[in-house]
This record gives sequence, structure tokens and C-alpha cells, in this order.
Amino acid sequence: MEKITSVLTRKTASAFEKCGYDPSLGEVAVSNRPELCQFQCNGALSGAKIFRKPPMQIAADVAAELSRDPDFKEVSACPPGFINITLSDEFIVSLLNEISSDEFLGVQQLPSPKTIVIDYGGPNVAKPLHIGHLRSAIIGESVKRTARALGYNVIGDVHFGDWGTPYGLTIAEYKVRHPDWPCFKDDFDPASDVIPEIDEAEMNEIYPYASAKSKEDGEFKTVSRQTVVDLQNRKPGVYDLWKKIKDVSVASVRSIYEKLSVDFDYWYGESDSDGYTDELIERLNEKGLLHESEGAMVVDVAEDGDKISVPPVIIKKSDGSSIYATFDLATIIQREHDFHPDKIWYLTDKRQNLHFTQVFRCAKKAELVPETTEFKHLGFGAMTGPDGKPFKTRDGGVMTLSKLIEMVENAAREKLKDSEYISGDKDETAHRIGMAALKFGDMQNQPTKDYVFDLDKFLSFDGKTGTYLLYTVTRINSVLKKAGLEYDASPKVGGIFSDGERSLALAIIMSTQSYEKACADLAPSALCDSAYTIASEFSKFYHDNRILTEPDPAKRESWLALSALTGRTLRKLLDCLGIETVENM
Ligand code: ARG
Repeated sequence: MEKITSVLTRKTASAFEKCGYDPSLGEVAVSNRPELCQFQCNGALSGAKIFRKPPMQIAADVAAELSRDPDFKEVSACPPGFINITLSDEFIVSLLNEISSDEFLGVQQLPSPKTIVIDYGGPNVAKPLHIGHLRSAIIGESVKRTARALGYNVIGDVHFGDWGTPYGLTIAEYKVRHPDWPCFKDDFDPASDVIPEIDEAEMNEIYPYASAKSKEDGEFKTVSRQTVVDLQNRKPGVYDLWKKIKDVSVASVRSIYEKLSVDFDYWYGESDSDGYTDELIERLNEKGLLHESEGAMVVDVAEDGDKISVPPVIIKKSDGSSIYATFDLATIIQREHDFHPDKIWYLTDKRQNLHFTQVFRCAKKAELVPETTEFKHLGFGAMTGPDGKPFKTRDGGVMTLSKLIEMVENAAREKLKDSEYISGDKDETAHRIGMAALKFGDMQNQPTKDYVFDLDKFLSFDGKTGTYLLYTVTRINSVLKKAGLEYDASPKVGGIFSDGERSLALAIIMSTQSYEKACADLAPSALCDSAYTIASEFSKFYHDNRILTEPDPAKRESWLALSALTGRTLRKLLDCLGIETVENM
């Protein structure tokens, strides 16, 4: 279905043309003064210079022409030259019914297929997920779902950190602790030697320990550097231990993403790009980009006009090992080879902004992708405590993601303790409410900004919260159920009988455009705004009207249809936010 602002732009452009003006002036946007009108066009203001006429005169000509269209209730020229547009109720109703019967619920689909790779999650092997991994996972999942809702072919890739310095440190420390493990023997034979089971608690504790140790113990540091080189050369034993550690890690990380309803099409890691490292070096050399600097091989990526200094990208360290940027560049070759994407988007916290600037510049200079391929990095802010500092556990440590999820679920369960309405699995309901509260509390913010983690607020039934939204959906479900309708029923809206309905209807119509904005800006907050506006308009409408006992059957049916469409629209928005709804609460 064509989006409403395009429909109105077409109509307005043709009115400009009929009046003898340039049709390109007819761009229509949602009004920023909703008390005056629903949509507006500012084209007469720019037309004034071209046609040497007062803007009010152009606006009046066009408004008069547009007024003849029965889809408008009112079109007026407003000083200094705005064209204010209000739709007729019949047109609003026809839009609602078109949305309701549209396969994509009114979300305009891309004109031609396009592929996006979204790189999000970014967990690391041998390290438990912590709260720093939350935002990439949930915002990335939402951007992925939103892009899909717009018709993109989207490939989500977790891009495990599994091939760099940390694994040298980790494996070197395993060797200190378990020197007798067969994987450390020179004559290790993967066919007959067995590596003992990896204890997850030990694994989680080893990397921070080894990392701290390497800062004080030079000898250990040297050994661990050699171990990364061995790993990257897939030395038997070292490589086999790494595989075992990776299996344990992946299983543990997957189970946490599952709780967050976050899923990936590919569970690739840095190590999967290894096959493309030689090609990377060759191509950088072909272009004459790679040069030596202090023993390392680097590519210069500084540009004239840089406001901050952008250092060269290190491709190979002096010991020949590859590092973070090498993996990202090799992965770009891999993605180009496998998927030929139009866009590659990355989601990490904003401390990695510089890294991605370097990587994107290097990839473009080396022409690893066509010139038209779009790279985008969303660097988001941090989740903080009430003091504005990064969120910590009570004793000042970093909280694991599984602890955070448990804490939110417990708080939601406590809140539901006395609810009589829950039929079915109370734990599952508490889980869903908790996740809705957490995700909405996070994503309703502008992603690049920090936000305060305030669980009480997130779980409140009032205000702009995930809890309020789930509650609104259950309310709609209960009305439909009492009327004998299915949740996904799509009866026809018959008319508009009050101002409240009109506002709700417009909120639904406008919401179909928020997907495009959320996707273009990598900002699910646009979906949160739409969902909240619809829910508040529904609450007013519900409060003002007795839907079930309304004696006029035409009204009652139309109201039920509007309620059903509200429910479907909200569920679609919530689904794109990765939020699951509940039966009752
Ligand atoms: N594993 C990385 C980290 O913990 C994040 C990976 C982000 N994605 C990427 N392609 N570099 O910082």
C-alpha cells in the first residue's frame, strides 16, 4: 500500500501543476501543528521566488484546487503561505480498511529487492554476555525485523569475537593451569587424544584473570602472543582446545539470546573470515595501500578535513598475527562474496566509532565492495545507573546479562503476584512482561544517547512503558473476546463517530510510516513513539465509549473493527521491537 504522505504528495503536485506551478513543490508532510491540520505542504513558500508571486496567492490557488477533491474535509492557505490539509472522514475510513486488508498492514514495501547484512550481538568466546551486550542484541534484532517488514532481504550475523588476542591469553592460561592436558603435548593427535570437558565457570573466570596477569607478567604475555599466532595457524592441540571452548561458549550465549528472543541467520565469527585474509592482503597490495610502520603492516585512512585524527588501520601486527580490523575487513570480502549486499550495518557501542570509520574507509579505498554499497555503523550510548554512570552490580562489578534478565523477570513476577487475571503459565507471562519492560525502556530512547535503567519505571502500568503497551493489547483482546471476535479478525470500519476515533485512526495511519524512519535511522524509538501514541489514543477512545453495550449496531461494529485494527497494528509494531504480547495480565 502506498504511504499516505506519497498519496497526498501526488494529489498536491497535480494541483500545483493544474494551477500552472511546478509539481515538484507539492511535497506533503505530517503536520507539526496537529491542532490546526493533519498534513501540510510548504511548497508555496519556495514557489514564491520562482514564480515572483506572493506565497499566500500560490497557496490559495492550490488550496482552492485541492478543495474540490472529496478526500479532503478542508484545505486552506495559511500565512505566510502554508497549505494546511485535513482529510475527510470517509477517506480516513477507506484508508483504515485498506490497511486492514493489506498483507503488510499498510507498510509500504520496497519497490525493488535489496539485501542488508546486519552485524549485531558481537559476543565474545570465553566471556559471558554482560549488560554491555544488551543494546546491540535488542536494537539489532529490532532493526532486522523492521527492515524485513519493509521488504528488505535481511541477513543477521552475530560476528562472534573468537580469533584475536583474548584467545591467546585464554589458552595460555589454560596451559598454566592444566599443563597435563593432551592438547598441550607436542605430539597431540586429534584422532586419538581427548581434551577434558570445559568447565564453564572456570572458562568465564579465565580471560579476565589472564588479561590482568599479562599486564604484570611479561613472560606470560610473550607466551600468549605466540599462542594467538599458533591459533591463527591452526596448530593442532591449540586449535582443538579453542574449538571445545567455542562450543561451550556458543551454547551458553545462544541460550541467553533465546531468552531475549534474539536470533541470527548466521552464527559466524571472526575465525570464519580467516579464509579471506590472504585475499585481503593481496588486494591491499594490488592497490598499493599496504605499507610497513614500526614492524606492522598498515593502511593509511586519514582524510583531508578530518576533525579528529584517524590513525592507520593495522592489518598485520609485527608478529604476523591478524587483529580486530583485519577480521572486519576480511569479513567484508566474505559477505560480498556470499551475499553481495547493498548495505552492511553494524551495531556496537559508540566507543567503536573510530574503528568503524577506519574499516569503512579502508574497505572503500581497497574497493572490497562496489562504490554503491552502503556502510553504516550505529554507535549507541550506555545503560547507566541513576547516577548517570555505567550500570553496575551492587558491589560495583559488571552485571552479566543472565543476571539482569533474572532480576527483571523476578520484579515482573512480584508485580503480578496478586493478579487474578493470568490464565496459563505465570512464569512465562512474567518473562514476557519483564522483557517488554526492559526492551521498551531501552529502545524508546534515542539510541545514540545514554539512558538510565529504572526498573520500577519500566514496569509501571502507566506512562510510556512496555508494560502499558502489553496491558493495552490485553484490554483490546478482552473486548474482542467478549464480542465473540478473534484477535486477528479484520471486520470493516463503518465510519467515524467521534473526535477520539479520528485521532486513533490517524495514529494508526501515521504509524505505517514509522517503520521507514526506524530503519533509515537505525532507531526503533520511532516504533516506540508510534505504539505509545496509538495506545494512548485507544485508551481515550475506550474510556469515552461503551463499546460492548452500545445499542446502535452500526457504531458497535465499527468500534469493534477499529479496536481489532488497533490490536493488529500494535502487535505488528511490538513484533518489530522484538516484544511478545501476553494473553492477559
Ligand atoms: N566482539 C566485539 C566486541 O566485543 C564486537 C563485534 C562488533 N562487530 C564487528 N563486526 N566488529 O567489542
